[in-house]
Amino acid sequence: MDEKNKYSNITLEEIKKNSIVNVFVRSANDYLGTLGYTEHGVRHVGLVASIAENVLLYLDYPKRIQELAGIAGYIHDIGNVVNRQDHGQSAALLAMRLLKDMGMTPEEIALIISAIGNHEEESGDPVNPIAAALILADKSDVHKTRVRNRDISKYDIHDRVNFAVERSF
Ligand SMILES: [Fe+2]
Ligand SMILES: [Fe+2]
Repeated sequence: MDEKNKYSNITLEEIKKNSIVNVFVRSANDYLGTLGYTEHGVRHVGLVASIAENVLLYLDYPKRIQELAGIAGYIHDIGNVVNRQDHGQSAALLAMRLLKDMGMTPEEIALIISAIGNHEEESGDPVNPIAAALILADKSDVHKTRVRNRDISKYDIHDRVNFAVERSF
């Protein structure tokens, strides 16, 4: 395949307007709320998308690679709609179907789903620059307002880290 056909023109803005993405981001956040987990809604994924894009902008990666990191950031947590356990891998498979239906090229899909499938610390590795940017972006979104668990004695490791942070940039 020649170099040009490896890229599509699907944008982060189109992803943000997609109805499946919208419903899955909101539902996943609601289900995590039921379980007492920290906030993972539009605020989280929107911020992760822009941090991931910015990491690659500062490192001088091509514009399209920056955009793909933004897309990966926006949909990295949709797997929580299936289950919290292994949500990175279920998100990657959901993203595969979604992006394919939107007309994204296999080369771009491979980059995005590898990043999404590697964003969980238990099983993730920075297998390519987009994965590295996504991991950094996701882990740097910490703030006390993300904590939804009202019982401090039942705080998990994520609650404790987030609750400790009043400013992060
Ligand atoms: Fe996640
Ligand atoms: Fe996340």
